[in-house]
Formats: sequence, structure tokens, C-alpha cells
Amino acid sequence: MASEAELRKRNTPKSTNADLKSEQKEQQPKAKPNAEGSRAQESALSSTAFIVLAVLGAAAVLVYLNPAVVTETVYEFFGFDTDAAPVEPTRAGFVADVEKRDAVKAAFRHAWLAYERDAMGDDEYHPISHKGTNLTEAGGIGYTVVDSIDTMLIMGLQDEYERARKWVAEKLTFEQDANFNTFETTIRVLGGLLSAYALTNDSLYLDKAVDLGDRIMPAFDTPARLPTSMVNLAQRKGVRAEDNKGLVSTAEISTLQLEFRYLAYLTDNDEYWDAVENVMRTIRSSSLTTGLASIFMNPEDGRFVLSAIRLGSRGDSYYEYLLKQYLQTNLTENVYQEMYNGAMDGVHGHLIKKGQYSGMTYTSELIPERNPRGEIQWRLMPKQDHLVCFFGGSLMLGAVTSGAVRHPVSIPPRPSELTPRGKRDWQTGVELIETCVQTHDTATGLAPEIVHFRIPSDNVVGSGVPQDWYIKGAEPWAPAPYDARYILRPETVESLFIAYRLTGDDKYRRYGWKIFQAIETHCRIESGGYASIINVDQVPVVHEDKMETFLMSETLKYLYLLFEDDSVLPLSEWVFNTEAHPLPIIDAARKANF
Ligand SMILES: *[C@@H]1O[C@H](CO)[C@@H](O)[C@H](O)[C@H]1NC(C)=O
Ligand SMILES: *[C@@H]1O[C@H](CO)[C@@H](O)[C@H](O)[C@H]1NC(C)=O
Ligand SMILES: *[C@@H]1O[C@H](CO)[C@@H](O)[C@H](O)[C@H]1NC(C)=O
Repeated sequence: MASEAELRKRNTPKSTNADLKSEQKEQQPKAKPNAEGSRAQESALSSTAFIVLAVLGAAAVLVYLNPAVVTETVYEFFGFDTDAAPVEPTRAGFVADVEKRDAVKAAFRHAWLAYERDAMGDDEYHPISHKGTNLTEAGGIGYTVVDSIDTMLIMGLQDEYERARKWVAEKLTFEQDANFNTFETTIRVLGGLLSAYALTNDSLYLDKAVDLGDRIMPAFDTPARLPTSMVNLAQRKGVRAEDNKGLVSTAEISTLQLEFRYLAYLTDNDEYWDAVENVMRTIRSSSLTTGLASIFMNPEDGRFVLSAIRLGSRGDSYYEYLLKQYLQTNLTENVYQEMYNGAMDGVHGHLIKKGQYSGMTYTSELIPERNPRGEIQWRLMPKQDHLVCFFGGSLMLGAVTSGAVRHPVSIPPRPSELTPRGKRDWQTGVELIETCVQTHDTATGLAPEIVHFRIPSDNVVGSGVPQDWYIKGAEPWAPAPYDARYILRPETVESLFIAYRLTGDDKYRRYGWKIFQAIETHCRIESGGYASIINVDQVPVVHEDKMETFLMSETLKYLYLLFEDDSVLPLSEWVFNTEAHPLPIIDAARKANF
């Protein structure tokens, strides 16, 4: 039960969607994929059309004579370009906003130089105590250094880069006798090395990547060939995590593929490719009837375990990498497009919801529960992790690739360039980004780790102020709940970067600049570095003594690229791994074999 306090006034969005008051039937999603989602979508479309028409006044007659007017207007409203005369796709040619771009670069130096001064080579950095720590007692594996290298290259920080490279050449070793998380080590360290290699052709990085990849490979030695959560890098042995009963996270096992496939491509060693492709085959053969995947699998039998379905933690990058595997091999592996399409249909049918007051679009989670008769029922939980904010940009990227009828599409795409699915995904993506931006409407201008959305049955009392989201458990007199933190996460600015590249709409730069300024105001530590804050709704802020490595690898990189010229890392040639390490789109001879 929440209280009035947590329902402080938030600005409600400007949208006057007439769909607002429609009941969302939050409690029992039907077993019919799509029905609900497409209904909501239709009504959103028609209501938006209604408003546009009202504004246009006498247009009704025109519409009667030419219904296409409505469609075009609606799509434009959602960020589409209309199908005006030109037939050739329009190109972007965005110029850099040099001042803002360089401000982001200065922020990166502020972070890096403090780390280098206080903790060079340590895995993690604590900017308030000016100390570094390693993930394990055995010693560091270059978690922060390797995660930051490609950002230095992209920003043209030559001196910092030279010193980081020297550290990799002289100090980095993976001969550490301890257990490391398979997924995190792959996306941050292997991904960072591969990206550094792609940007330089310096064999140092490829040699290190091969060494690390070979040490991770034994993780795949389980009966179902699903990788264990942990791996001992010195002993070259997969290790089952003690928590979660030895189960593996769906997102963790399905977010190694870009990295190992690129490594296979560079080395002509198919074993890497086989190992990660086999995971995808196993997931596919579990026949996901709704396209949605539960967050745990059993490495003994390769089956899904009854558990939550969500786009947040342990689920998120499964969906991200379905699309990105399809992108990585230049839209040639249709099995990933099929899986991605099925997943997006499932997401629209079951997880996409509209806020009851403002109509803001958000994603829910599904929690399995047994009813008194012992049957499984899925309860809808209107909870959205900040992690989910990658999804708006991902949907838009999917729309212009998987959902396009021709390549490349215009910037922004015209409706006629997209399939019906592409149009649907584009629209949802645009709306979800708006929602994520709105969750920055806090005292600090930073978004919390987790937000909940109001539903009729939530028993949240008081307030009377129509608003759609709140931070659960936030009370003025109590310690801030875990949900209220901002830990320098990148997902919203990641989506802003992609949305800007695909639309050229300056509002995405404005949103990003505001978020950057909030980070500068509230997270920057004067003596160097940036720190997490424990409550986005409290000013002055209380810091936590931690600077996550993804600040330098993702948050500041995406902000920099948002203000950079669009010839830098074009999305038609690069695909970003889930830690924002760019990998080239490859022309691989090898194609999915299932
Ligand atoms: C972290 O590990 C590295 C490499 O093994 C070592 O040089 C460094 O002293 C360690 N740092 C801390 C804080 O223990
Ligand atoms: C690296 O080598 C590839 C293949 O020869 C080439 O296409 C690419 O431009 C090179 N990249 C750099 C940064 O030198
Ligand atoms: C991807 O395929 C398109 C069309 O076949 C081609 O023009 C483009 O050069 C390819 N891109 C890469 C990076 O290989």
C-alpha cells in the first residue's frame, strides 16, 4: 500500500489522448497474443486522429473524401515523415553540436582522470573514498579500463588512450583464479576488447580477446550446453551460481552472441559461433507460444523454468540481441527476424500498457502465480525498470530494419517504407521514449531505478492528482527505497541517441542535454569522478561511493554520439553490444543453421 507522499505531483504529459480513461484490464492478460494490444493501438490511433481533426476544424469533409489524410496525419504525429513527393530515401547529414559534444567529452575526462589517479587498473572505482576495488580477491580483469577504451577512441582522447593501451599491453591478465560472471565479463571486457580491435586493427586487442574467449568457453560445458552464470578464468571452468538454484538467466545466456560471433568471424574459429548459436537454437526449440521468454532456464535440460516475464533485469537483452543478431549479419539470418517478430508481437499483446490518467505508454511484467485450484495464472505487475528504457530505441531500430519494406529507409521513415509491424513498433518506440523521459520529472531531473504505474486495483491512496507513475515505498521520513536510486545508467540516453539518428528530431538532443546537465549538477564529484545518488527526489543529493563502469562505456558515449556528427559510427555499419561497444556489421559466410 502506498501513501500520498509518494504521489507527489508530476507533470502529466501534454498528450490529451482520449484513450486515457479506457479500462486496461490489468489483472488477467488473456492467452490470446495481440488482441488487447492491437485494440489499444487502434483506439489510440483513432483518438489521436480525432484530436488532429479537431485542430484542423473543417477537415471532416476532406477526410470523408480521402481517408488517407487521417493516416498520414497520425503517423506524422508519431514522428513519421509523410509520403511526400521524393522517392529517394532522405539522408540525414546531421552536424555535430560541437559545444555540447565537447562538454560531454570533458565530463568523460573528469571521470577517467580521477579513476586513473586513484585506482588505475582496478576493476571498480569509488570516487568519494578515492579508492579502487577488484571484483574478486584474485585480482582485476580490466573491467573499467577495457570498458572505457573505445569511448576514448571515439572521443579522440589520444593521450588517455595511449596510457590505457599501455596498461592493457603490460598489466592486463586473465590468469585470475576466481569466479567471474560469464555475461558481465563477456559484454564489458570481451566486448570492449573486440570494439577496440574493430576501431584500431591493433592485434593486441584481438590476442587478448582470444585469450579471454577461450577461458570463457568452458562455461558452455553443461548438459544442455547453456553457459553457467560464472566461470573461473584461470581454471577454465564453468561454475554454477549458488543463488537461483543453479538456474541461468535468459538474458545472460542470450547476450553473448554478438561478441562470440564476431570473435569467430575474426579468427575463423567456428567453435565460438557454434557455442552461442546453440543457445539460440535451444531457446527457439522451447517453442515460446507467445514469443515471450521467462527469465530463468535450466542448464540441465535446456528448458524454461516457470518464472517472471519482463523486459527488465534478466529479460531485457534477450529481446535486444534477437534484433542485433539479425543486424550483425546484415539482415541475412531470417531465423532471428522471425524470433524477433514473434517476441515483439508477444510484447505488444501482453506487456505494453497505457497509463490510466495521461495515457502514457509503459511496459508491465508478468508474474506467474498458482490459484487455489493449482493452475498457473499470470499476474500483470505495472513495474518498469530503468533498464527497460533501452527498448524504445530498440523498437525504432527494429522498425527501420526488420520492419522496413526497403533499405535504407528515409530519415525519419515514411509510413510506406514500413510494414504494418514496423509501423506499430515505431510508434510504440516513440511513445516509450517519451515515458522514459517523463520519469526524469523528479527533484533532480534524474530517473529512478524502478517506477510503478498506477492501475485501478493498486490501492494506492490519496493524492487526487492525476498522475501515472510513482516510486514505490518512497516516504519523506523513511530511508529511500532501492527503487529511488540513480546509478548513472545509460538506457534512456541510449534510446535518445538511436531516436535522434533515425529521425533527426532535435527534441531528442534537447532531452539528452537536460539529462546530461542533471548528471553534472547532482552526480559530479568536485575532486573527480561521478557518483550514484540514492534518491532522485531529494536535493541536495546523497551520494553513494560508486562510479559504475557503464558511465564511461555507455552513458557518456551515447551522450557524446547524440551530439556528434552522424558520420561517426553510422547505424548502417555498426551494431552496439549491450554495453555500448560498437561492433561492425559483418559479411559473414556463416549463417544461422537452425
Ligand atoms: C586489483 O588487481 C590488480 C591486478 O591483479 C592489482 O594490481 C591491484 O593491486 C588490485 N587492486 C586492489 C585494490 O586490490
Ligand atoms: C582495419 O582493417 C579493415 C580490413 O582490412 C579495414 O577495412 C578497416 O578500415 C581497418 N580499420 C582501421 C581503423 O584501420
Ligand atoms: C549490407 O547489405 C547491403 C545490401 O545487400 C549492402 O549494400 C551493404 O554494403 C551491406 N553492408 C555491410 C556492412 O556489409
